[in-house]
Amino acid sequence: MSRASLGLLSLLVFLGGCGGDDDGGSESAKFPEKDWASEAAKLQEGPDWYRHALFYEVFVRSYQDSNGDGIGDLAGLTSKLDYLKELGIDAIWLMPIFPTPFKDSGYDISDYRGVNPDYGTLADFDALVAAAHERKIRVIMDLVLNHTSNQHAWFTESRSSKTNPKADWYVWSDTPSAPDNGCGTDSAVFGDSAWQLDPTRNQFYFHRFYPEQPDLNYENPEVVSATLDVARFWLDKGVDGFRCDVIGLLYESATECDLIPKTQAYIRELRKVVDEYPGRVLVAEPSNLTDATGYLGNGSDMFHMAFHFGYGYFWGFSFGGHDASAITDTFQKSLSQFPPGAQDALVIGSHDVPRAYSAAQGDDTRHRRAAAIQLSMKGTPFLYYGEELALRPGSEKVVDLRDYARTPMLWNADPGHGFTTGKPWLAFGQEADAFNVTAEDADPASMLSFYRDALALRRGRAVWGTGEMELLETGTKRVFAVYRSDDFMAYVSAVNMSEEAESVELTRPDLGSRAARVLGEGKLALRSGGGTLSLPGQGFGIFRVK
Ligand code: GLC
Ligand code: CA
Repeated sequence: MSRASLGLLSLLVFLGGCGGDDDGGSESAKFPEKDWASEAAKLQEGPDWYRHALFYEVFVRSYQDSNGDGIGDLAGLTSKLDYLKELGIDAIWLMPIFPTPFKDSGYDISDYRGVNPDYGTLADFDALVAAAHERKIRVIMDLVLNHTSNQHAWFTESRSSKTNPKADWYVWSDTPSAPDNGCGTDSAVFGDSAWQLDPTRNQFYFHRFYPEQPDLNYENPEVVSATLDVARFWLDKGVDGFRCDVIGLLYESATECDLIPKTQAYIRELRKVVDEYPGRVLVAEPSNLTDATGYLGNGSDMFHMAFHFGYGYFWGFSFGGHDASAITDTFQKSLSQFPPGAQDALVIGSHDVPRAYSAAQGDDTRHRRAAAIQLSMKGTPFLYYGEELALRPGSEKVVDLRDYARTPMLWNADPGHGFTTGKPWLAFGQEADAFNVTAEDADPASMLSFYRDALALRRGRAVWGTGEMELLETGTKRVFAVYRSDDFMAYVSAVNMSEEAESVELTRPDLGSRAARVLGEGKLALRSGGGTLSLPGQGFGIFRVK
């Protein structure tokens, strides 16, 4: 190439930059900025804080041990709040921290008003909430109301005779079946029969989950008021809300068990209780994994948010098949069906499913691309602890196979990995020396560095939590793209599901004329009427366009 044509080429590249199709790293030169830290502070204060927050789910037992007994505890978690603050977390969801025989990792509660002694005391809990609030981090708790532990005092009393005052607090039957119960099935979610013979009372009790988790009988108004009082107890202590465990299953009928009208009525009562305390929120664990709409009521009378499992628990298959259509469909559905005001709760994992690392089949780019979608959609993201490290699965089982996704957090490469000075209650996951906070902090290409950048991108920018969302037609199921906008700014976020580079035409008329890539890779060349989006194989890009 001659000197002259080289010169021409650089002129063209230069003109390209000014003309708007250069999308690398010049956001502030092209678009108005704000003081994002003070915007973030404003969003955190307002009544809609939860729509803009980043939540983080914590298994206290596996987060940080403060006294060397190998078990994570509340004081340990308190000592890690600065890590969470720095990561950009606004709220934590505590998996159950109540006294428990631990047959279902704490989802079998033996006292709703206490703290598991392994984790500390009520005073430690108060200290955690105070320390979190000092840092503007909110705390929500798991509210497990469908069942208690069989060691709960209510059940001890209920099973003692057919005539005791709590005889009807649980679901009892003379036969291992009941015509107006069990939603058309007598099998439990865990194990075989949903009916267990109690030798003392010589009757069967109903349990949707493990036999050690008898279902409460919500047909009894005393159970309704006792459980609403549990919510009040913790709200009075200052918690910022609840994640409601399998809440759709409270009442059963002969043919149905998910969110029947009686259950909906209970949820509305619970919402009224929560609304007596300004700024507190409820997030539902829907038992229907592909449609959470029913949990959101009219948008303001049931849950503030519900988990979007249609994406959160199934994205791995879409990446495996290089096909975004299931992802597009599930978000199209929430867009069209949600009542006004409802908010999606966006996950890519939880304590109930294999780690994101596993769902991504160990392909780091799948994990990143899945997170890029999670963090781009209209809604509130919930991270599961360790997801930010691409924590590997474990291989020891103490309670059940879900323990593979519940291994202790890895802070460094020391023998106890900074988690404990003792022997961890559950063996660490794989590759613990290489994938931990200290190692990943030092590596700009690590998953932790990716999360730091991605989370920082949301900070203070209301558009992510509440802006409009439109799924963009890309002409191929291999490329997923979404347009997010509010009055101040707009983004195109796009993911290439395939291993090959892809170039697609976007035809939205008002995409604007210039783009700046703010995360990921690829190029977005805009012109009037649309633009050309190019992504490398396995790549994603987030572009600011307004
Ligand atoms: C929910 C919890 C799960 C638990 C079950 C029974 O699905 O997320 O961990 O086993 O409820 O409480
Ligand atoms: Ca401990």
